[in-house]
Amino acid sequence: MSTTTTPAIELRSVGKTFRVAGGVLGKDRRVVAVDGVSFAVPPGGVLGVVGESGCGKSTLARLILGLLEPDSGDIAVEGQRIVDMDRKARARLIQPVFQDPFSSLNPLTRIRDIVAMPLQAQGTFSRAEIARRVDEMLSRVGLPGEMGNRLPAELSGGQRQRVAIARALVLRPRIVVCDEPTSALDVSVQAQILNLLAELRRDLGLTYLFISHNLAVVEHVASEVAVMYLGRIVEKKPTQALFHDPEHPYTKALLASVLTPEPGLGVPDVGLGDVMPDPANIPPGCRFHPRCPIAEPRCATETPPLRPRPGGGVECLLVP
Ligand SMILES: Nc1ncnc2c1ncn2[C@@H]1O[C@H](COP(=O)(O)OP(=O)(O)OP(=O)(O)O)[C@@H](O)[C@H]1O
Ligand SMILES: [Mg+2]
Repeated sequence: MSTTTTPAIELRSVGKTFRVAGGVLGKDRRVVAVDGVSFAVPPGGVLGVVGESGCGKSTLARLILGLLEPDSGDIAVEGQRIVDMDRKARARLIQPVFQDPFSSLNPLTRIRDIVAMPLQAQGTFSRAEIARRVDEMLSRVGLPGEMGNRLPAELSGGQRQRVAIARALVLRPRIVVCDEPTSALDVSVQAQILNLLAELRRDLGLTYLFISHNLAVVEHVASEVAVMYLGRIVEKKPTQALFHDPEHPYTKALLASVLTPEPGLGVPDVGLGDVMPDPANIPPGCRFHPRCPIAEPRCATETPPLRPRPGGGVECLLVP
């Protein structure tokens, strides 16, 4: 009998670079969005991913969902390589919940039909089975059945996000990738949606990858947290350990930023000055050194090794 469980999500040295065309006279730029990322999420776990805008969170989500192919490395979901699966099989295993779920949808599609889409796309469900599952899912996410006949514009932001969750879960996937699922919502509605996601995870035995720039939200929902900086995970630990014993100077700056929240600001002010990180121009050595409050000269030339910790590790030359 094997004692090792297959991770729900496993990444090995995953990299993704985008080539962006330069201007009329400009050279093409290579944007390193994800750079050598490795981690494993156990079944039933919630990995929170945090980091500033542009650090590669959504690219990571799209890679795991199979919407983008990595340039290097491997991604497996429940032990199967995501690139080897066809679309339908992938949809049965892993589903997304995005921030703005209906921006790409026809505004004249009724809620019932939106939730039915993944079932319809499989091509194997009868009309009666589709109707039954859609009703069941709408009720599970707390939407009265009559909502099914409405149009997206007739719903509140919170109700629309419930519809997005119903659509993501209607095929009974094992894994859900949530990319800023509550960032567009009022704080009180955010809490309701987070509680709903937690309840569904327990009841349905789901595994989540949960992306947010809001550390308070991540502390609330995640079992483990990965901190991303310019495409790399610079620290990863169980949630309690990360919040109580942050080691990377960037993690410390991020945590300090939530202690002084500025209402109305969508993104954390990390208080690290005006040197903005540029994924088209990754600094040598430790990529955080230009903004690091404790950097030493060797941080500009030496690549930080991974210092292993229970449930993850930290990449900093100055951490023993
Ligand atoms: N399709 C694309 N083509 C070119 N560049 C891209 C593409 N997608 C993302 N990028 C670039 O890759 C980097 C990472 O982007 P990504 O959307 O993953 O960041 P993010 O962490 O999700 O940011 P945010 O918090 O603002 O959502 C950015 O510099 C972005 O401009
Ligand atoms: Mg994003």
